[in-house]
Amino acid sequence: MHVLHVVGARPNFMKAAPVIRALNQRPQVRQSLVHTGQHYDANMSAVFFSQLDMPAPDVNLEVGSGSHARQTAETMIRLEPVLLERRPDIVLVYGDVNSTVAAALVCSKLLIRVGHVEAGLRSFDPSMPEEINRIVTDRLANVLFTPSADGDENLQREGVEPEKIYLVGNVMIDSLVRLLPAAMRCPKNGLPDRFALVTLHRPSNVDDPATLKTILDSLLTVSEELDVIFPVHPRTRRRISEFGTNAVKLHLLDPLPYIEFLALQRRATAVITDSGGIQEETTYLRVPCLTLRGNTERPVTVTAGTNTLIGTDNNKLHSELAKILEGKTKSGSIPPLWDGNAGERIAEILCQLPVNPNESSTRNLVVV
Ligand code: UD1
Repeated sequence: MHVLHVVGARPNFMKAAPVIRALNQRPQVRQSLVHTGQHYDANMSAVFFSQLDMPAPDVNLEVGSGSHARQTAETMIRLEPVLLERRPDIVLVYGDVNSTVAAALVCSKLLIRVGHVEAGLRSFDPSMPEEINRIVTDRLANVLFTPSADGDENLQREGVEPEKIYLVGNVMIDSLVRLLPAAMRCPKNGLPDRFALVTLHRPSNVDDPATLKTILDSLLTVSEELDVIFPVHPRTRRRISEFGTNAVKLHLLDPLPYIEFLALQRRATAVITDSGGIQEETTYLRVPCLTLRGNTERPVTVTAGTNTLIGTDNNKLHSELAKILEGKTKSGSIPPLWDGNAGERIAEILCQLPVNPNESSTRNLVVV
């Protein structure tokens, strides 16, 4: 069996690594890895490959930045000939980034089976580009691997046949579990005992000057009582300099490698973020997380975990942070199957899938 993985952006890498690792243990499986090049800076991509011990990509499509339409379309155009040449039995796509939906679209038209890892998550917020990517990818996927039971419920409500859905747990937690010991060996290098770790990159928070200013002003107030450590995403860095927004009192860093960032999360007093994955990692680590969004596609992090939705409500951020500083934190529990073995479960299921029913038609495809 030939499994081809498509990855493109930072949050894909820690999800694909455990699946690749588990499939490597199965001699009947051949694998190839395509990097779309959606994220291309060394500190957004290459460093993750080395820390996660991932093989170098067989192909890099070098799609780079652009509008959503351009990025998605370029990925489709450049991926199609690769798939026609390599003819995998199944393509695995990860998460909800533009590379994910682009690959799912190409595969569907080539009658190549698609497996979606991290299927079924819904924020029910159509203004979020990732929500569109999630819905379309799940509609096209032939095999859907969900991280939590809410994913199964969402998919079934949308009419996905239950036999296509596999509740496997959270692959991102596999990478966390494997690399947490390495993270705990990271030197503290003058890190304060108490600090807030911040990440921010959602277009809704950083692309509008007034919203970004409100959030940064709020973080500046936080920094009066707690050090703020802020590894800055390239999009946000650009916006801060374009808008001339005042962030001098915050410790602004370049994006960090996986292990160093994990060490900071583990040691943080609180994490303030608009990321999806960090809501899950903090839940596993039982570190309080204040999410600067009004909704989440990962509700289990709020109901079971340590996550609290803040939106952009300044007052709520400060009152929730005050509670954390007083030690009144959500104790949280780790959701079922977030145990470090999700990649193994996916590999096992893949090896038992029936032969691709479309195989003969895939072989006969002619591009016109
Ligand atoms: C993408 C994903 C988002 C994910 C995030 C994690 C989509 C729709 N969004 O958002 O779900 O949470 O990645 O980081 O796919 N840039 C660089 N260097 C890089 C990568 C990007 O400078 O290595 C710049 C680009 O110029 C671009 C901006 O950052 O303008 C945003 O990159 P893009 O891939 O469009 O989306 P993200 O905001 O990173």
